[in-house]
Amino acid sequence: MPPSAPSTTAAYSADYSLRERLAQRYREVRAHSLALAAPLSPEDQCIQSMPDASPTKWHLAHSSWFFEAIVLQPFAVGYRPFDKRFAHLFNSYYESLGPRHPRPQRGLLTRPSLGEVHAFREHVDAAVLSLIADVDAAAWESAAPLLVLGLNHEQQHQELMLTDILHAFSCNPLLPAYRRAGPSSMPPTAELPAMRWLPMPGGVTPIGHTGEGFAFDNETPRHQVLLPPFRIADRLVTCGEYALFVADGGYQRPALWLSDGWAMVQAQGWQAPAYWISPGDPRAPSAEWQEFSLRGVRSLDTRAPVSHLSFYEAAAYAEWAGARLPTEFEWEAAYGTSAITQMIGEQWQWTRSSYDPYPGFRPLCGAASEYNGKFMVGQLVLRGGSSATPAGHSRGSYRNFFPPAARWQFSGLRLAKDA
Ligand code: AVJ
Ligand code: FE
Repeated sequence: MPPSAPSTTAAYSADYSLRERLAQRYREVRAHSLALAAPLSPEDQCIQSMPDASPTKWHLAHSSWFFEAIVLQPFAVGYRPFDKRFAHLFNSYYESLGPRHPRPQRGLLTRPSLGEVHAFREHVDAAVLSLIADVDAAAWESAAPLLVLGLNHEQQHQELMLTDILHAFSCNPLLPAYRRAGPSSMPPTAELPAMRWLPMPGGVTPIGHTGEGFAFDNETPRHQVLLPPFRIADRLVTCGEYALFVADGGYQRPALWLSDGWAMVQAQGWQAPAYWISPGDPRAPSAEWQEFSLRGVRSLDTRAPVSHLSFYEAAAYAEWAGARLPTEFEWEAAYGTSAITQMIGEQWQWTRSSYDPYPGFRPLCGAASEYNGKFMVGQLVLRGGSSATPAGHSRGSYRNFFPPAARWQFSGLRLAKDA
């Protein structure tokens, strides 16, 4: 019990149970980050395989720094940072919070050690939990939403821990598995039902967060969009379907590609989704296509939704299939339709929508204003959520975003068509 809990008013006890629930949630989310890192050695947790990816250790530290900078320093009276120098190392992109270590050099940070980062996390945890218990009612009003933001932020980094270690392991000729395959990962043998086109009426459609529960600022304000009637696929494009595009010379036919996409195909030598292993690859000899995954090298599961596509590849596939990508608004309109499967929790789904502010968008106040809004140029929206997204993190109005060439995320596609 917090020392200030003896009040008997209904309002206070409601507040207290809210605090208890938030403390419990905090413990769960923080423990999950450590559980995700647990299969990794200290060496695994230190490397950075490309500028876009970060070391596991950096994710563990940065998500702690976020609580320190956004919640503890403003609201925890007398809070002492674990190490003042960590702000420089673990600030990601917040200009208003001071200068930063360059992102492409995060893998050079052999110090602080992993043990010191764990101690940093414990220091932050103790301070956050006592803040939740003790902070006065007025400060709680401001601190609680930022704590919830910090938890959702940490969940975003939990997914990034997985995408980033998968990329790092893919660069190692040993192709190590993050975790061993369980029996459930055996490819099913039955044929998949044909994809069906679901007609959607369109019309004036409400888009954005309804106001219940947490949402990021980029999901607001809720507003109306006019959609022409359209059709949308009842499931995601599978690896088997995508393999037909590959076999049909999809990566050799410029007419299927956006100009920037075709330039990437040529410059990067793309011939298949990231992490597909072509027959005859000496790292994992096989006569068939295989896939490198968090469970190591596996034969392609032709029924599973295709993943690790760039926007350019998703758009080229749609062109080849005589279809197109849905807009993010079409996706959200379809979300409520129970006939459609695989909306959240399989693969992120590239949309044809650029990541723009909704009409009337206002970023959060203070340092948190830099969280989403300043990235609203040159990126595409992905909807849904992947198998790497923490359970319960995403929702129908959730807007993920990446530049069009990014393919190290769990990103696939669903087809759409004009009516
Ligand atoms: C929404 C996944 C693009 O990776 O920068 C992490 C998530 N925001 N810390 C990103 C995020 C702040 C964000 N993405
Ligand atoms: Fe972050």
